[in-house]
Amino acid sequence: MTDFLGTTGLVLDEPLLWEQGRKGRCGFSLPRRDVERRPAPEALAGEGPDFPDLSEVDVVRHYTRLSTWNFSVDTGMYPLGSCTMKYNPKTNERQAARPGFAGAHPLLPSELCQGALELMAALECLLAEITGLDAVTLQPGAGAHGELTGMLIFHAFHRRKGSARSKIIVPDTAHGTNPASASLCGYTSVPIASNEKGILSPEAVAAVMDDQTCGIMVTNPNTLGLFEENIKAIADIVHAKGGLVYCDGANMNAVLGMAHMGNMGVDVLHLNLHKTFATPHGGGGPGAGPVCVAKHLEPFLPVPRVRFVDDRYVLSEDFPLSIGKLQAFWGNTANLIRAYSYILSMGAEDLKRVSQLAVLNARYIKERLKGTYHLPYDRPCMHECVFSDKHQQAHKVTTLDIAKRLMDYGFHPPTIYFPLVVPGAIMIEPTETESKETIDLFIDAMKAIAAEARANPETLREAPTRCKRRRLDETAAARKPCLRG
Ligand SMILES: Cc1ncc(COP(=O)(O)O)c(C=O)c1O
Repeated sequence: MTDFLGTTGLVLDEPLLWEQGRKGRCGFSLPRRDVERRPAPEALAGEGPDFPDLSEVDVVRHYTRLSTWNFSVDTGMYPLGSCTMKYNPKTNERQAARPGFAGAHPLLPSELCQGALELMAALECLLAEITGLDAVTLQPGAGAHGELTGMLIFHAFHRRKGSARSKIIVPDTAHGTNPASASLCGYTSVPIASNEKGILSPEAVAAVMDDQTCGIMVTNPNTLGLFEENIKAIADIVHAKGGLVYCDGANMNAVLGMAHMGNMGVDVLHLNLHKTFATPHGGGGPGAGPVCVAKHLEPFLPVPRVRFVDDRYVLSEDFPLSIGKLQAFWGNTANLIRAYSYILSMGAEDLKRVSQLAVLNARYIKERLKGTYHLPYDRPCMHECVFSDKHQQAHKVTTLDIAKRLMDYGFHPPTIYFPLVVPGAIMIEPTETESKETIDLFIDAMKAIAAEARANPETLREAPTRCKRRRLDETAAARKPCLRG
């Protein structure tokens, strides 16, 4: 039953609202009726649903207490590498909640939603400018969805040229969604290893690129947090064989205002608005993964597209080579509004500063933790740095133990065991929104954990000990999930 944490009075095992309901409690008040009472239509009569009777305070406290069980970017540092969990400014929420946007029905005729359409057209222009590419679709609802869009565009391009290609080159550092998106589109991934510097070498690409290969997917900066400095040479090799270059631009937050992927031979690129442009992630969404393309691929973009015709914005389907529609209505519009608000409120100079600070913070952590933790690629990193548990293995302490123990210190764990090229990887991405004081506390916690691993490894194997739930049996949790609290 209910359990109390003595010092704060927080209810730890929150009962369901159904268990808290008491007959006759009420959480609303309606104005006095000023029309004649009429019987309800038969279809609406009868027993209502079995909802519990609750007061307003019952409901507010219930959800507020539940919210304290979550760790979020609003509670503390969330250094989840590859996910870019940066603070989401509240002004963007306010813009997305404006009644004109929030109340707009997705089926409104275009003359009644000119503001929303203008915003989408303007956001497309901004994203094209930021990436150095020529045209943009805002439809995809996630990075992975953007990848699928990109692969469909690759496919449409090659089919139009009359060349049926079945393979795609994917580096060993790629996010798992890359080969998954390629195979959803019918392509077979050809994996290539990154070199001793943690990046792709042109020779490795040249060795596998042939006229059966539709192109390459490159993540830049890659998931080791390293800039793929050979990208232009690699693009030249791929183009020379008639292929296309896809850039997984999920890590654009490291190079905003500093690198134009369009100038490096990239043909298609997706952005994760929920990583780079500070929109919320949500549980598995709703994100937004706009796709930017070079001019020659514009005809293949999904429809409908926003056009400015006869002095007004319209949604047009008139693109005969389009790959079609990929999303209900226009995409995750609220996140498009938030990203637009973020870009305008930052401005070009501050967007560049975002990336400079994201890189500086990651490099600071890398320098201060190397030695304490094994650093497999000791090179200047971009927005994230990847360590491993190699030094802690002597004490039989693993990456998982370190991650769980960080929760006791009040930090969300970093991404672990990814990228796969680093055994026992600990992938830390501080983002630009953390202060030096917070980052120093995080570094102190990581060092304290390394000291515990030497002096008292058992503490780590039992962690977390200060969280609502102790360590789960992850296999049982996956095989027999209990989703009811
Ligand atoms: C490098 C990289 N590529 C692709 C993705 C997939 O993006 P999404 O989770 O929005 O589908 C991610 C997600 O974080 C990523 O880090």
